[in-house]
Amino acid sequence: MLRKSLLYLSRQKRLRHWMEQSPLSRKLTARFVAGRTLEDEVRVIQKLASENILATLDFLGENVTSLTEAAGSRDTYLAALRELEAKRLPATVSLKLTQFGLDLSEEACLNNVGELVECARQSGSGVEIDMEGSEYTDRTLRIVHGLNDRHPGCVRAVIQAYLHRSQEDIQELSARGIPVRLCKGAYREPAAIAYPSKAEVDRNYVHLMKLLLDSGSRPAIASHDEKIVRTALAHVRQNRIPPDRFEFQMLYGIRRDLQRELVTKGYRLRLYIPYGDAWYPYFMRRLAERPANLLFLARNLIRS
Ligand code: FDA
Repeated sequence: MLRKSLLYLSRQKRLRHWMEQSPLSRKLTARFVAGRTLEDEVRVIQKLASENILATLDFLGENVTSLTEAAGSRDTYLAALRELEAKRLPATVSLKLTQFGLDLSEEACLNNVGELVECARQSGSGVEIDMEGSEYTDRTLRIVHGLNDRHPGCVRAVIQAYLHRSQEDIQELSARGIPVRLCKGAYREPAAIAYPSKAEVDRNYVHLMKLLLDSGSRPAIASHDEKIVRTALAHVRQNRIPPDRFEFQMLYGIRRDLQRELVTKGYRLRLYIPYGDAWYPYFMRRLAERPANLLFLARNLIRS
């Protein structure tokens, strides 16, 4: 119930505007967001690199309303890729296609992101295409396939274990050698297309994770669920899958204890690190995943 309400609030534009302008915003978001500027982001990535942790940079934003804004997102990401290259940082970039004009023109979106993928290829980085709500799944996968045809090996797709269709999507991506980040899924979806209970989502996650570990191309296991992480570790040990064939991914600020443990044991870990002013929808989805975060938030506000 609380999860549903938080996901509903995550789409409320007026509340979003008010929250993002609030003088308390930095205090609210510090745990999950690197800061407002690319400089803040780079500082966090550098610190993590010194601890042997890889990064994927995310410039916060989604659902732009003009192609000019979409071109602005592209330019921001191009500048970020150049900065990562200049600082020799081990990072990919993650983005949402609605930030690049997917609601307005699939072709413009493909061209915008195509420029980024070309830039990432030249600098030895990569582009990870986040998955949004199910109204975008087909279009997102079409663009992923289009980008992979132009620049093979430079794009990673995201698949959500809560969707019934995900096994087929994984098989199609793996057949073309496209790497996949597997996550549970963060949006509100109807029971007709998504598993409604956590137990079913977790079961499907483990099933898809094993498929990817056994026959996917450089899969990323994106979860903070300790049971799932331990199942992955047991599976790779039993099947002698070398640690350089896959990676774990987690969100910045979540389960730091588990993050440290994986790195200490010699596994590859990449953190998803957002920055920018448009933090509200991202932040609300993190609250929805763990409503106990509301208590953490309240404590921070009381201290401020
Ligand atoms: P689950 O929600 O079951 O949580 C397991 C445990 O993890 C909890 O008990 C708690 O300890 C900890 N935890 C999880 N979320 C927390 C939070 N917000 N705060 C504090 N603790 C928390 N989704 C999507 O739809 N499209 C996408 O492109 C992506 N991309 C993505 C990238 C990366 C790197 C990650 C890690 C996740 C995503 N997600 C995503 C989000 C994903 O779908 C999912 O909503 C969250 O990862 C939460 O699911 P868990 O697998 O962590 O398990």
